[in-house]
Amino acid sequence: MSIQNNSRYHEVHARSLADPEAFWAEAAREIGWIEPARKIFDPSMDAYGRWFAGAVVNTCYNALDRHVAGGRADQVALIHDSPLTNSISKFTYAEMLKEVQTLAAIMQDFGVAKGDRVILYMPLVPEAVFAMLACARIGAVHSVVFGGFAAKELASRIDDAKPKLIFSASCGIEPGRIVQYKPLLDEAIRLSSAKPQACVILRRPQQVCELVAGRDHDWATLRRAALDAGKTAACVPVLATDPLYILYTSGTTGIPKGVVRDNGGHLVALKWSMFNLYGVKPGEVWWCGSDIGWVVGHSYIVYGPLIHGATSIMYEGKPVGTPDAGAFWRVISEHKAVALFTAPTAFRAIRKEDPDGAFIRKYDLSKFRTLFLAGERADPPTVEWAEAQLKVPVIDHWWQTETGWCIAGNPVGLGMLPVKHGSPTVPMPGYQVDVVDEASKPVPAGTMGSIVIKLPMPPACLPTLWQQDARFKEAYLTEFPGYYKTSDAGYKDEDGYVWVMGRTDDIINVAGHRLSTGGMEEILASHPDVAECAVLGIKDAIKGEVPCGFLVLKAGVTRAPADIEKEIVALVRDKLGPVAAFKLAITVGRLPKTRSGKILRGTIKKIADGESWAMPATIEDPKVLDEIGDALKGRV
Ligand code: COA
Ligand code: AMP
Repeated sequence: MSIQNNSRYHEVHARSLADPEAFWAEAAREIGWIEPARKIFDPSMDAYGRWFAGAVVNTCYNALDRHVAGGRADQVALIHDSPLTNSISKFTYAEMLKEVQTLAAIMQDFGVAKGDRVILYMPLVPEAVFAMLACARIGAVHSVVFGGFAAKELASRIDDAKPKLIFSASCGIEPGRIVQYKPLLDEAIRLSSAKPQACVILRRPQQVCELVAGRDHDWATLRRAALDAGKTAACVPVLATDPLYILYTSGTTGIPKGVVRDNGGHLVALKWSMFNLYGVKPGEVWWCGSDIGWVVGHSYIVYGPLIHGATSIMYEGKPVGTPDAGAFWRVISEHKAVALFTAPTAFRAIRKEDPDGAFIRKYDLSKFRTLFLAGERADPPTVEWAEAQLKVPVIDHWWQTETGWCIAGNPVGLGMLPVKHGSPTVPMPGYQVDVVDEASKPVPAGTMGSIVIKLPMPPACLPTLWQQDARFKEAYLTEFPGYYKTSDAGYKDEDGYVWVMGRTDDIINVAGHRLSTGGMEEILASHPDVAECAVLGIKDAIKGEVPCGFLVLKAGVTRAPADIEKEIVALVRDKLGPVAAFKLAITVGRLPKTRSGKILRGTIKKIADGESWAMPATIEDPKVLDEIGDALKGRV
């Protein structure tokens, strides 16, 4: 390594790979266990082994009870800051515990027990955090579904998870509009074959909603009654290897993958990360500007900061427009946050509105130490702008829903390594990240290849997909034997820095949200007038990428293409949800293909992005590319 500084990183990372069991056993001392592990890592269990086999634990105990007993009862645990409802509310650890104990007792009254699944389809409100922790408290497995997904997506998750109970709300609030959740929930339950026994609905003052008799229950009424009756639920001991949650993420088809997170490994890795990676100490204020519907929100709005005894900010607002491009700086200064974790897209949006950072200088950011970015590659111009404006380190870090925490980052607590713009820096402990060719052979430094993680993965990473062990092995462990396939491509440089340059599958990142173009193509293809289609991600100045659909209409269709394109845009919004940001459908005469019939998506993308491109040697008919270029004129 040519880069040297005083960071403890190299020693720590080397130790984690040389003796992983000793490394994670030491990290596990930070967690309160009911019974210790029989084996720190048991390679004989499941697909590639399991961490903390035989240990007994409770995640909610570690997030709440332990801190209340240990002197943090009156410390604020959660700050809900909502410019969209013009309100700020705060909950101490003791108050949170009370809410969670009460809600857990309500769940038990509905017959929810260890191992039962519970779906949350909720906006960013404190009650959503209470519900997640209440599930953890009684050993139920939560599955949070992001509010920007449509009813059909929710239905597919209901059918897969088969929840006994669903928590939802009357509405979410987006700038300028109320998103009514209840009709979406009702429609999803109608579409699904696995019906929940009950739904608990938070009726927000911004939107009334009717309750379905016999199925729906009013959250506030249940809470009041349970509090009056003094109901409370104790922590239920679970195995470290038992599931804490399922989080569905886009796969290479329209069918989402249910990523399973365990209790023990998750506790240990997240606790380790809070100081060593993020440099945050217990008692400090931390802000993760994501949504609880994403993995980043699970790990760093809810579990990480609470397990660590920090104060977590939950922000129901946008980087711009709520009310202006100073919103982030207002939140940081008002609550004295020491660090912020968000997606680069948020900074691109702020920079567009406030290029000179005038809003930044209106606020006291003296407590603010570090900005963390993830969810998509942090493009160097955005990082440079943020560094210049904020005058604090800006740290890109790379991870996935599957891993639950950072794969490669720059460990602030261990001592930062020099930042290289465009690279998320180095593998975290427990991760041996290799770049390999098609034969699974590591390639030399600087050479592009598939980025893979040597098995076993460290604690917190997924052990399997929910009730789909075979799909898990097939999707992640088969192509590169002995490795986990990240489906990201890139390279490592001579200093061991990882460079993540793009996906090898059909996943695109739209404003930091992970979406499958294959899933969108299935929706386009379902339109009666569409013969053939292709969806690909094209460059967008704010969102990084946005989907663009190309349609070939069936022979004999005489309707105006513009009308069909409008219907297609509405169809994707209706079936997948607004989060897809699918606004562009373009009718073309033909799609460019290779002689073997493969659609030349890469070339179409280059044309749409205005990049230089070479005529593919295998193209069936070169003229089609000119037609695509013509169709794109004035549209992108
Ligand atoms: N419920 C219902 N609808 C939602 C929603 C929710 N929870 N979240 C988003 N949507 C809707 C939005 O209203 C929007 O709908 P529209 O097409 O009617 O405008 C659509 O889904 C896309 O939302 P979003 O991706 O938030 O885009 P935007 O144009 O509203 O805002 C940014 C753009 C850059 C400001 C915004 O994407 C942002 O703040 N990104 C940060 C991303 C982030 O933190 N990601 C987490 C991963 S780390
Ligand atoms: P998600 O599962 O939604 O967290 O999305 C994971 C994918 O987002 C990764 O596989 C990458 O393709 C991309 N991604 C996330 N963070 C980064 C980053 N810091 N740099 C590059 N790509 C990233």
